[in-house]
Amino acid sequence: MNLQQIVDDTWNTLADQRGCGTLATYIPALAEVDPNKFAIALATPDGAVHCAGDADEPFSIQSISKVFVLAQALERQGPALWDAVGREPSGDPFNSIVQLEREKGIPRNPFINSGAIVTTDRFIDDRGPEDAVTDLLQRLRRMARDDAVTIDERVARSESDAGARNRSLAFFIADFGRLLNPVEEVLSVYFRQCAFAMSCRQLAETSLFLASDGTDPVSGQVMCDPIRARRINALMLLCGHYDNSGQFAFEVGFPGKSGVGGGILASIPGKAAIAVWSPGLNRSGTSMLGAMALGRIARQTGWSVFSGESMRH
Ligand code: DON
Repeated sequence: MNLQQIVDDTWNTLADQRGCGTLATYIPALAEVDPNKFAIALATPDGAVHCAGDADEPFSIQSISKVFVLAQALERQGPALWDAVGREPSGDPFNSIVQLEREKGIPRNPFINSGAIVTTDRFIDDRGPEDAVTDLLQRLRRMARDDAVTIDERVARSESDAGARNRSLAFFIADFGRLLNPVEEVLSVYFRQCAFAMSCRQLAETSLFLASDGTDPVSGQVMCDPIRARRINALMLLCGHYDNSGQFAFEVGFPGKSGVGGGILASIPGKAAIAVWSPGLNRSGTSMLGAMALGRIARQTGWSVFSGESMRH
């Protein structure tokens, strides 16, 4: 199978649809991004990375960061993390507050905003926000093998300035006594993790551990234990696209995580990590062209996690 050709064909086939979908205007800094950007990077465990389009241009990873923070919160807290956040799809938009009251401040899963606010709190633990951000930054730089990975402070400020909804979620959870750290400290980390600027190439390389039982196959660095990698993939499949997760599984069939910056990270266990980027979103905050690109790659490779060997061509 010629993966570079599949990546190139996918980019070329879809390129004339660049600009489809709508930008995430609720975070003002994200509304300024060029809607015609389009990138694909596919990394395999042997260290190869197949790229097309704007694959070396950094963009705001937004909710994709929730995957990395979940992995680290689990490493710090172990299974006790699951006392504070659930593992079920929510069926609601990413920033919904409706379930929180009925379910006593325990968010449905770690990928909706409320759930990520809790995992961020547990990731901070007792270190304070600055140490936690530094830890995450260093870790992502190491995993991406690139010290250029950075936080776009302008995006973080923009989101904080427009952060009434996330503040509401965090205060609501805090009211149930379910945050270890002060709300503003938790949010200061949350806004900065969402504002990490990474390219598709960096994201795909960083995420290979998900496809490789928790260990980066290139450096040998252990990110999390094998069962946790498997479970994070399960949660990505079921909850990674909020109220669009069923549709994404139906069309693509990869564990995936979207971000309102227009990136999608997909992990295909044993095979590859793929990052795509196109800023225009569907109604659930998933990149429209990005999902199309992943669907096409799934069909071309036969890699849908629901495919049998006979589907492969
Ligand atoms: O908290 C927010 O609303 C954003 N920083 C992240 C939301 C997001 O990326 C949803 N994913 N598609």
